[in-house]
Amino acid sequence: MTLNEPYIMKNFLNEAAPVIRKAVFPIAGLGSRFLPVTKATPKEMLPVVDKPLIQYAVEEAYASGIRQMIFVTGRTKRAVEDHFDTAYELETELERAGKHELLALARSIAPSDMACIYVRQHRALGLGHAVLCARPLVGQEPFAVILADDFMVSQRPVLAQMVAHFEQFRCSVVAVAQVPPTEVNKYGIVEGRQHSSGALELTHVVEKPALGQTASTTAIVGRYVLMPTIFDHLAVIASTQTVGEIQLTDAILQALKTEAVHALAFEGKRYDCGSKLGMLQATVDIGAQHPDVGQQFALWLSERQNQL
Ligand code: G1P
Repeated sequence: MTLNEPYIMKNFLNEAAPVIRKAVFPIAGLGSRFLPVTKATPKEMLPVVDKPLIQYAVEEAYASGIRQMIFVTGRTKRAVEDHFDTAYELETELERAGKHELLALARSIAPSDMACIYVRQHRALGLGHAVLCARPLVGQEPFAVILADDFMVSQRPVLAQMVAHFEQFRCSVVAVAQVPPTEVNKYGIVEGRQHSSGALELTHVVEKPALGQTASTTAIVGRYVLMPTIFDHLAVIASTQTVGEIQLTDAILQALKTEAVHALAFEGKRYDCGSKLGMLQATVDIGAQHPDVGQQFALWLSERQNQL
């Protein structure tokens, strides 16, 4: 698969009986790191070349066999709902103009077998709280969580790799990557022992440790497959914690006392599109492989490099 080939029509897992049917997309965050663009535009709608981050994330879930997309949304996020809705005016105009390829492209964003469900997170109480908001929609089944600003490029969708691991071991799975020791304070950091599958079986996890607090540089990066028991842990934290954000990492730490959680070092490249630098890196890499402009852009980049 080339980088820009949409996942949306492909299925990497057994569609007949998917074990993970629902994905939760926490998108209520304010995106203040990208002001001013995020004043009225959701950060999840920022594009890597011509596709918004949230669409890449939804395509990854779809390609992993998931058909129910649950968005935990907030004020100012209407554009996300519109993006996955029918655009009557646009479609009518494209049809009238005979622009069939563009029409198919517009319609492919929301295939007819995909359901988009929205729930509001009324207060900014953190990732754990956002996931807890999805509880009535997820119910008692394992589910995925995708953070759209962790943008993944891989041969096989990262979430599909995790779902395959889940199918085999039936325990929660978090995606991990190595980060520089100076950046551990930006992530959930895991410790564990080697499992026979090659994954790490977690023994400890801590949210944004101070530098030097842990020797581990293995960070959770925006993809989770979780057992529904996580909701019980989140609910306890939500009812007892009086200050600060409710962290998903803290609920995972609680889960470790009674169940296994695996950390999977996936095949693929991750871009931190929650930061300007990561967004620029993703834009250059995807731009250089884009079917329309990739060749020209790559040529321009190398000429520019020679001029510097
Ligand atoms: C969140 C999680 C953190 C994880 C990170 C991955 O943090 O709380 O554990 O490592 O996403 O991007 P945030 O980036 O929302 O502060």
